[in-house]
Amino acid sequence: MTRILRAFLNEARRLDRADPLKAFRKRFAVRPGTIYLDGNSLGLLSRDSEASIQKVLRSWKTLGIRGWLEADPPWFYLAERLGARCAPLVGAEPDEVVLSGTTTVNIHALVNTFYRPDGKRTKIVADALDFPTDIYALKSVLRLRGLDPAEHLILVRSRDGLTLDEREIAAHFDDRTALVFLPSVLYRSGQLLDMEALTARARAQGIPIGFDCSHSVGAVPHEFDRWGVDFALWCSYKYLNGGPGATAFLYVNRKHHGKEPALAGWFGSVKDRQFDMSLDFTPAPGAGRWQISSPSMLSAAPLIGSLEIFEKAGLAAVRERSLRMTRFLMEMADGLLAGAPYGFSIGTPREDGRRGGHVALVHPEAQRISEALRGRGVVPDFRPPDIVRIAPVALYNTCTELWTLVRHLRDIIDRKDYERFPAERKAVS
Ligand SMILES: Cc1ncc(COP(=O)(O)O)c(C=O)c1O
Repeated sequence: MTRILRAFLNEARRLDRADPLKAFRKRFAVRPGTIYLDGNSLGLLSRDSEASIQKVLRSWKTLGIRGWLEADPPWFYLAERLGARCAPLVGAEPDEVVLSGTTTVNIHALVNTFYRPDGKRTKIVADALDFPTDIYALKSVLRLRGLDPAEHLILVRSRDGLTLDEREIAAHFDDRTALVFLPSVLYRSGQLLDMEALTARARAQGIPIGFDCSHSVGAVPHEFDRWGVDFALWCSYKYLNGGPGATAFLYVNRKHHGKEPALAGWFGSVKDRQFDMSLDFTPAPGAGRWQISSPSMLSAAPLIGSLEIFEKAGLAAVRERSLRMTRFLMEMADGLLAGAPYGFSIGTPREDGRRGGHVALVHPEAQRISEALRGRGVVPDFRPPDIVRIAPVALYNTCTELWTLVRHLRDIIDRKDYERFPAERKAVS
């Protein structure tokens, strides 16, 4: 082992010994022999979630329909209760957050509510690095209003293909802008946008602003209320460890709770009127009015357990450890993976305040390198064209695992191991 590798190993071990969250790792299904670094796509199952799923199954088994009111917690109020428990993670009041639908459905529900084209104010400002589903949804919102996305959707461009400049984004806010909708963290590079500054700029011009926070909730603290964000939504299968396809969350600032939900459904009703079965919708007083359908208990159940973990761990500690790990990974990448023959560069901002929970390692052979890693029991993900994404999760990863990852990456290049893997991307990468 080279001297520099040895020095990083010692540092990794020192950081892991000092990790205040290290006790949480054993609560997660970390497979022996596997280094799981894909928590920004699908977080691992925890014991706590497994227990809460079992509990919901038991209440279904024993109570049947009575579970809606008699289960513990009662299914009828679960979406609001989980919303209230998620609220501290985003700096919101309990009635401003609710569990509902899926990320894309929530984009439709909220963008359709907040997008009110009026006169020459018709444009939606988003960005060219956005996750595709967000753009598909925005284009369909415009088309439903008979507006051409080519004219009315402004996609702010990136200069380097990886990051965005908040000043350039804000320069597009003007008297033709009807809505701004942006990601909190860019899914490829991991850049954390300055939501506070962007919100301040939008508000100063009277433009509603919303965020897709799928890549930040559970990894990064938010202060939606203090910043004055109008609305937000996020999935719960990444850093919230809610399981594949878990139900999502949405946030609506209290000042908008009187608004009519654009996509109304009976689960948005005020609770004690819902079963009146009236054909006139009486919306709930809080963000709960943006719910549409019966919440799926089986995909909400894991969140009962996983939110408990966040309550115990504390988000500030999670963020501190996450930053420590991503910083450590970038230090190792600089020292051990840059330059010939390795040729990796870092696509993620170096400043702590501009980084979410993952690091983008950029390499022209990223796809085959990701496959080679998987072949060795290390799980990253690949985002085209050239990014190996590494998400060291504060609750269950270690710096020693990151060191092992870097060692594998060097070995994969030294031996040209990636050449054994096909160049085609799998259906899910
Ligand atoms: C930023 C972002 N938005 C939305 C989605 C997916 O949306 P949905 O949960 O509706 O599948 C993802 C999926 O990874 C994402 O990263």
